Amino acid sequence: MAEVILRNVSKRFGADVALSDVSMVVPHGSFVVLLGPTGAGKTTTLRMVSGLDVPDAGSISIGGRDMAGLTPAQRDVAMVFQQYSLYPHLTVRENLEFPLKSPALRTPADVITRKVAEVAEVLQISHKLDNKATALSGGEMQRVSIGRALVRNPSVYLMDEPLSSLDAKLRSDLRIELKSIQANSGATLLYVTHDQVEAMTMATHVGVLDQGRLVQFGTPREIYEEPVSLYAASRLGQPRINVLPADIFAGAPRGAAFIGLRPEHILQGSGEDSFVNRVEHLGDQTRLHLSFRNHDLITVTDAHTPLATGDIVKIQPKTPLYFDADGARLGGGSTT
Ligand SMILES: Nc1ncnc2c1ncn2[C@@H]1O[C@H](COP(=O)(O)OP(=O)(O)OP(=O)(O)O)[C@@H](O)[C@H]1O
Ligand SMILES: [Mg+2]
Repeated sequence: MAEVILRNVSKRFGADVALSDVSMVVPHGSFVVLLGPTGAGKTTTLRMVSGLDVPDAGSISIGGRDMAGLTPAQRDVAMVFQQYSLYPHLTVRENLEFPLKSPALRTPADVITRKVAEVAEVLQISHKLDNKATALSGGEMQRVSIGRALVRNPSVYLMDEPLSSLDAKLRSDLRIELKSIQANSGATLLYVTHDQVEAMTMATHVGVLDQGRLVQFGTPREIYEEPVSLYAASRLGQPRINVLPADIFAGAPRGAAFIGLRPEHILQGSGEDSFVNRVEHLGDQTRLHLSFRNHDLITVTDAHTPLATGDIVKIQPKTPLYFDADGARLGGGSTT
């Protein structure tokens, strides 16, 4: 079992509070994605689980074992860093073999060869195995550093935006590969990304960090449908949730300052007039950029819509989310 538990973990760097009283359970075999803007504490969380940084307060356990005082090597975790870190003087093959050649593992040579070949195949770098690590593109280096984690069989993988430097095609290939590796091996993953699609498609759970605090933890669907705040609501969904003054439509509950409408939660054809600013055809869907009482809105519509710039379309909200003046959700929502 490789359940990771953070209990009241805090970390400061000088006057900077990087993490503040974070408690979180990463279930065994789960794929937990941490979301939050730059500086939210995502990397810090991974580094403390890995043992590269030490919490100022609180505790971390993996598989029921308290990690206090254990080195990264003693924790049985594999980390893929935001900034890839390869041995420049070694070839790709040697970089991939390296983690398996540690004396403690005593991996037989044929197993090493097989593992390296498998991982190279999955990451589409087989043809680069004899290149020096320095003779690679950024995306190739990033794949090698993912490979160095995958050749091992750690109880927990910690990955910090591992796909961010790859092109769209490779990113979507590797998204599927990573998800299936995790599903098949039952590995536990704690994963950081800024990418909505990665979060929605790969995560079993999402943790939303706001300036070092964990403000919501739940399935991607829970976070999407039942966000605890405007902040959490804005972390998932592309195009982003539309936020307007609550009284712009009738029916706002008492105390509501804002109404949040996902793009698919704007009904067209009845209600009040809005003005079509722009029609964006994306192939499988069309986005309508609307102007409604001096506010911009984005909604989705039929791919073959006859609407064009300058048209008037009637709209009304469907399943709106309401928030108070501080951005806290009104009337429901799961909390951490
Ligand atoms: N080694 C360090 N020394 C000083 N401050 C640090 C250090 N590491 C992190 N911090 C601070 O802690 C806070 C959280 O940083 P962290 O790197 O965890 O953010 P992040 O969520 O990973 O952001 P990004 O998306 O930019 O990678 C920031 O305010 C950052 O400046
Ligand atoms: Mg980071």
